[in-house]
Amino acid sequence: MEVLRDYGLPIRAECGGACACATCHVHVAESGRLPLSAPEDDELDRLAEIFDADDSSRLACQILTGPQTDGLAVRLAQGSLRDDSLRDDPLRDDFVAGGVS
Ligand code: FES
Repeated sequence: MEVLRDYGLPIRAECGGACACATCHVHVAESGRLPLSAPEDDELDRLAEIFDADDSSRLACQILTGPQTDGLAVRLAQGSLRDDSLRDDPLRDDFVAGGVS
């Protein structure tokens, strides 16, 4: 989640990474799923509360970043956009790099 903020993406992330709000919901691109650790129970509980969550869903604040996430591509879920006025922004539909080098 901090990486996404560092890239200037408009992610809400209202609880600051405490796994309490689910406003950092992202969809992980198919090619980016393998290196990620499995979600913990708290994350799965939050994801179960999101109507548009699917098999590609993760909470960005729960993804441990490091060399293993280099090149990871995610898409911000619509409900995770910080400002409703950005919903027509092309960033919404673009996959963006969120890796750490
Ligand atoms: S920032 Fe709240 S759950 Fe991720």
